[in-house]
Amino acid sequence: MRYIAILLFVVLMIKCRQKDNIANTDYGVDYPTPYNFQVPQGFPQPYFSSDNPLTNEGVDLGKRLYSDAILSSNGLSCSSCHRRSKSFSSPYYITPTGDKISIPPHINLVFNPDYNWNGSITKLELLPMGDFEPQFFNTNADTLFYRLSHHPLYPQLFFKAFGITNFYTLSYEELKMTICKALVQYIRTMVSANSKLDRYQLKGGALTQEEHDGMYVFFSERGDCFHCHGYPLFSDNLYHNNGLNNQFIGQDAGRNLITHAASDLGMFSTPTLRNIELTAPYMHDGRYTTLEEVVEFYNSGVKFSRTIDPIMTKPGKESGLQLTAYEKLSLVAFLKTLTDTSFISAK
Ligand code: HEC
Ligand code: HEC
Repeated sequence: MRYIAILLFVVLMIKCRQKDNIANTDYGVDYPTPYNFQVPQGFPQPYFSSDNPLTNEGVDLGKRLYSDAILSSNGLSCSSCHRRSKSFSSPYYITPTGDKISIPPHINLVFNPDYNWNGSITKLELLPMGDFEPQFFNTNADTLFYRLSHHPLYPQLFFKAFGITNFYTLSYEELKMTICKALVQYIRTMVSANSKLDRYQLKGGALTQEEHDGMYVFFSERGDCFHCHGYPLFSDNLYHNNGLNNQFIGQDAGRNLITHAASDLGMFSTPTLRNIELTAPYMHDGRYTTLEEVVEFYNSGVKFSRTIDPIMTKPGKESGLQLTAYEKLSLVAFLKTLTDTSFISAK
């Protein structure tokens, strides 16, 4: 009996010490080392979490986990749906209830205050928690603990990044949250500021005449795109109803599903247009397969409703934008100057 009591005491002591290690980042002389995050010229201040500072070791671990099916019981990884070659997106996902959702890219998310098409998540660390659920990874807790503990690299990498000496001292929730912290650190480093347009704006790079003309349509009242998709993020990080629908059934209710406010019906978080050439199909439900279709929607397909954004219904727009064929072509050419090939090339 006494031995059991002593054993229990020792186990508890170890558990407490290791719990301390999780919260305390001061566990090694050499690590973790702060990550040197550079805000690109002209960009706003990024959003970081005070409980999850960026470290080189955390980012490296996150990068490895991101494309490792070790997290799942069905062979999926984050990179199955978020592919680097498509700016960390892929066409779409069908939900268990049959809704089609265009998979958003990961690009400059560190500058976003909220995530997902309707802004359902406001803390990035919480977002990947849902991926362990049956409809995504269908992760089995015991298998995950076993695989990580017996892996040749992960025990060392988790120790260096988070001071974890034994996975089994964590609850399943704590393990998942630690994994999410690493994944999110990696996602916060996915910064794109080297598109053709950036080089034109900041480094004297050239645009073709067509791209230049498209830029005029985009940034002037002709196309009126810049109000919501302004430089440098190409998103105002706000919610708008851009006139896709005049009935709001199911996921088309958008922000209203989160706030339940009638004034939020059909409102969606403005998506960035950076790397838009790589992320078809377009809109939350992927209804358009080409940028030409998107431009034609803004030109002649906008549907009026009570919550439509006033920008879409400004005087003179009663019959659409009435862009010429050349203006439409040039607008598409301009949108393609937002592609950043250095961002997607393997590092
Ligand atoms: C089966 C496909 C699938 C997998 C696997 C997947 N995601 Fe996603 N992801 C989506 C979809 C769909 C959305 C958009 C959901 C919405 O807006 O309602 C999304 C949204 C996101 C967003 C928000 C992007 C934004 O612009 O707001 C982040 C961040 C993200 N996923 C990270 C991850 C991470 C990390 C993993 C791995 C743990 C992962 N995803 C695995 C399909 C997937
Ligand atoms: C009133 C704000 C607003 C204006 C003005 C606006 N947009 Fe949008 N844009 C949005 C919102 C919100 C979405 C997402 C809508 C959805 O999916 O339901 C969007 C989506 C898009 C998409 C698809 C993005 C993706 O990842 O699927 C493209 C491309 C686009 N807009 C281009 C333009 C162009 C070009 C113009 C000008 C002709 C323009 N937008 C004007 C708010 C706006």
